[in-house]
Amino acid sequence: MSGSLFPQDIIIRKRDGGALTRDEIEFFARGVSDGRFADYQATALLMAIFWRGMTPQETAWLTEAMMRSGDLVDLHDIPGAKVDKHSTGGVGDKVSLILAPLAAACGLKVPMMSGRGLGHTGGTLDKLEAIPGFRVGLSVAEFRAILAKVGAAMIGQTAQVVPADRKLYSLRDVTGTVESIPLICASILSKKLAEGIDSLVLDIKFGQGAFMKTKPRARELAEAMVAIGATMHRPVRALLTAMNQPLGRAVGHTVEVIESVECLRGRGPVDVMEVTFALTAHMLVLGGAAADEAAARRQMDAALASGAALAKFREMIAAQGGDVRVIDDPGIMPTARHKIEVRAEAGTTGFVAGVDALKIGHAVIALGGGRAAVTDKIDHAVGLTDLVKIGEPVSAGALLCTLHVNDDARAERADLSAIASAKAEALVRAGITFSAAAPTLEPLIHELIS
Ligand code: URA
Repeated sequence: MSGSLFPQDIIIRKRDGGALTRDEIEFFARGVSDGRFADYQATALLMAIFWRGMTPQETAWLTEAMMRSGDLVDLHDIPGAKVDKHSTGGVGDKVSLILAPLAAACGLKVPMMSGRGLGHTGGTLDKLEAIPGFRVGLSVAEFRAILAKVGAAMIGQTAQVVPADRKLYSLRDVTGTVESIPLICASILSKKLAEGIDSLVLDIKFGQGAFMKTKPRARELAEAMVAIGATMHRPVRALLTAMNQPLGRAVGHTVEVIESVECLRGRGPVDVMEVTFALTAHMLVLGGAAADEAAARRQMDAALASGAALAKFREMIAAQGGDVRVIDDPGIMPTARHKIEVRAEAGTTGFVAGVDALKIGHAVIALGGGRAAVTDKIDHAVGLTDLVKIGEPVSAGALLCTLHVNDDARAERADLSAIASAKAEALVRAGITFSAAAPTLEPLIHELIS
């Protein structure tokens, strides 16, 4: 045994720029799960790691220690290739809701352990919980049974599996310690390696609305994760994708479930489908369900056209206790009391030049769709729809988006700045910019790191 096993000594060593030993890192991961590392000590260490970073060796130890903080799910006896995908987090990123049933309909097993909203980004678990009855807190036995029967199951970190990530994830969300390569790397890979996958596809987002603001930082994160996957003998492929504007036209929870169903019906926004197809194709190839990306694309098109992918989503919702009527009757999900149309001001003319994903994410938080404290409940009903996309023509009065809000009607209040929907509208207006000439459209998918 080497190093100190007092939380304060570990915090001080990292605060002063030192490297932690394997024992210290294991003590941290176990300690946050069993309470020997208090929340205030854990957040102090997270902040020290945020500023001081970790060596590749420390990051690999942290990943493994977090993975081993709970049980490891063994899926060996379930036939089929177990392949998952994880995104580093974006705004309007509902890809998991479409990709999991789509990949399962194409023959893969998708054991997906996801997260809740983190910072300004939305979380898959929170979106799924907009579906009445949907349970993300399955036991390992239930998770395995649903995976074997349906082909896809989506859960969160539990007290049983990666409890260290459950605790650290919720602390990072509210303490400004999200955008750290070692912490993101360990958070994602600990979950993925614990859930029993054979291989993994990562969507590493970069840009205004992502935790990695630049492509080189995203590449650094991707390379770190691919390298740790290799040391754990799991093939990992990472796609670098742009997150300057939100994906799709809906941002929130209920509204993103509705948009995901539209995607599974083959009527989804082009950008959401481009990212979904690219990631799912890599999963199908890694899992041996398709010979190459072209074959994968043909399988995905067939699964969407036949309704098989939507049927899988229905099956998964039912298996996880959700009310499958949401597919045909989305009104049974939490629905906002008011809709406010945000329209382009007088004199607006030209094209949409930018839709700042960070500001849009903050607008949803302002409406009550995010957390300020670990214990906060989110409002699944709020969000925005009909969001314009970069490159679209606009003129005065054009609809920029519709806000779904639950605060009181503004007309009844004098102080607009205290009203959530007014704050959200101001953020949306600040985030959407215009240009006289059509802007050059940036590619969505940039690089493959494998
Ligand atoms: N997704 C995760 O699971 N963890 C992170 O740290 C970021 C995105």
